[in-house]
Amino acid sequence: MTNLEPMASFFAARVGMYDEHMLNDVEGCREGYLTMAELVPEGTESLLDLGCGTGLELDEIFKKLPDASVTGIDLTQAMLDRLKEKHPYKSLNLICGDYFSVALGEGVYDCAVSFQTMHHFSHEKKTELYRKICKALKSYGVYIECDYMVEAQEEEDFWFAENERIRKEQNIPLDEFFHYDTPCTVDNQIQMLKDAGFSQAEKVFRIENTTIIVAKK
Ligand SMILES: C[S@@+](CC[C@H](N)C(=O)[O-])C[C@H]1O[C@@H](n2cnc3c(N)ncnc32)[C@H](O)[C@@H]1O
Repeated sequence: MTNLEPMASFFAARVGMYDEHMLNDVEGCREGYLTMAELVPEGTESLLDLGCGTGLELDEIFKKLPDASVTGIDLTQAMLDRLKEKHPYKSLNLICGDYFSVALGEGVYDCAVSFQTMHHFSHEKKTELYRKICKALKSYGVYIECDYMVEAQEEEDFWFAENERIRKEQNIPLDEFFHYDTPCTVDNQIQMLKDAGFSQAEKVFRIENTTIIVAKK
């Protein structure tokens, strides 16, 4: 068993090959980036991207909405630096920080997105974050999440149990940000979004485990 790596150093160490890896090796991501851009409503002016990384979803969203004003939050400075290099002239407010702690404001954004970042956290932490995202959206706002999700509860339970076991072995507290995948079921994801105050949440895309849910405020 290899040692778990702290979240930010895990991604910083892989930034050089990150875009190629996501586009070519993770089933459904290439199509997911295109679909997410299609789902962002026309007329979106202010967009929040949680865990924006190098901005693969923004590469597509900017083709549709070149003038959108984007706030991107990510723990890993090296990923944000790469995003800024790709889009030096876009309206990008990049925050290097933890989206659970960064204040998101109230009624600020037309749309919020996250792509392949939420599959590392507990139901409780995610529900609390979704509540914050819902508040940060304007009254008609939408949140679009693309993530690694599973179908069966047993599969989710297995990954969460493995996470606990490995952390215990390596003396890593459950609440510290280390990289380990704990995907949730699509049904649980939808329930968490509804529990957080979204009026609607539905699955609109799935290729292998790459799944998109659209949630309306
Ligand atoms: C798999 S990458 C996805 C990046 C980008 N959205 C994409 O699809 O190409 C996950 C990103 O989430 C970021 N991340 C993980 N936990 C975070 C947290 N608590 N707050 C902010 N960013 C976080 C990581 O630093 C990493 O850049």
